[in-house]
Amino acid sequence: MTLAPPRGYDTLTAASIDLISSLQEPSGAYPASPDFSAYTGYSWFRDGAFIADGMSAAGQRESAERFFDWCAGILHRYRSTVDEIVERADGDDPVDGEHMMPARFLFDGTVGEEEWGNFQLDGYGTWVWAAVAHGARHNASLDRWADAIVATCEYLASSWHRECWDWWEEHPERIHVSTLGCVGAGLQAGIDSGVLGDALVTRCEAAIIGIRKLIEHRGIRNGHLVKWLDDDAVDASTLAIIAPLGFIDPAGEVAARTIVAVRSQLEVDGGMHRFLADEFFGGGRWPLLTCFLGLCLARRGDLDGARAALAWASSTALASGDLPEQVGGHLLNPEFEQFWIDKWGPVATPLLWSHAMFLRLDAAVVELEA
Ligand code: BGC
Repeated sequence: MTLAPPRGYDTLTAASIDLISSLQEPSGAYPASPDFSAYTGYSWFRDGAFIADGMSAAGQRESAERFFDWCAGILHRYRSTVDEIVERADGDDPVDGEHMMPARFLFDGTVGEEEWGNFQLDGYGTWVWAAVAHGARHNASLDRWADAIVATCEYLASSWHRECWDWWEEHPERIHVSTLGCVGAGLQAGIDSGVLGDALVTRCEAAIIGIRKLIEHRGIRNGHLVKWLDDDAVDASTLAIIAPLGFIDPAGEVAARTIVAVRSQLEVDGGMHRFLADEFFGGGRWPLLTCFLGLCLARRGDLDGARAALAWASSTALASGDLPEQVGGHLLNPEFEQFWIDKWGPVATPLLWSHAMFLRLDAAVVELEA
């Protein structure tokens, strides 16, 4: 009998699962990072949805479900806010950005006191996408999240076209292509879940058509996705809407050109930067974005490329096994590094989202190798 060669990632895989499990709150919330000053005490819909997806892909079914329970609890608690947003969305007086659903919550599901660029639509799409993907992966019933999926789809179908803060909590005056893709993927997942009534399905379908038109006409330049509408700059977050979200066909031409554009501008020695103008901690390379690249390559059948991305991401682990939010070595705008260290302390480490993306790509590579 021939034994499969050891893959070398078992330790980091086990450490990532342990870390995420041990830090998950009794409420189901995943902290973004346990000690990083600006994140302490908060769980984000965006990070959490990807963490749940990574844990689900790694076989940690219960952990993912507890996070979806936490999301559902929030949608239940703030149902009247959603209703008001939906009711006023088409009138002369839509709810202002500061009173839209927040991007992050305290672990008990309440909104914190600190000022934050909280109006971010993407995480609401991503949690629905992750829950529905989890249901399909594990043949799990979606019943206990049905009301929350309905509320989220009502919210997104009413407000998908609005400007809001992006994945990086910047530029609230823009419409961001990765945000549009996350919302579209969530609405499509809502439709696929079978829990929406007919009228809501029709509204979600109309929103998806609107999103696709907007991306096609104003979110693509030179054949590739761009960072925000009507501009040429690229952003590595757009990789996520190719894979794992699949809102942009991973096998198609737009995906191919986006991967080339993002790599040629933002990849340095195997690691991905966020966008060229990035000043946060000087603009380093992000393991989690490198994993999104790996997932795109895996979906296009490029096993070697996916393995290289996984290897680079794992190489950023510290001796403790912790994966950081970003690494130095190559900074796009090094003159800003010290400003952020003085403001918030060293780079967030461990970042649970980094660990989750490592798990997610590891699972995709294993699947492709099988
Ligand atoms: C990132 C966000 C992330 C948050 C928590 C911010 O610095 O820009 O994408 O959700 O940290 O991890």
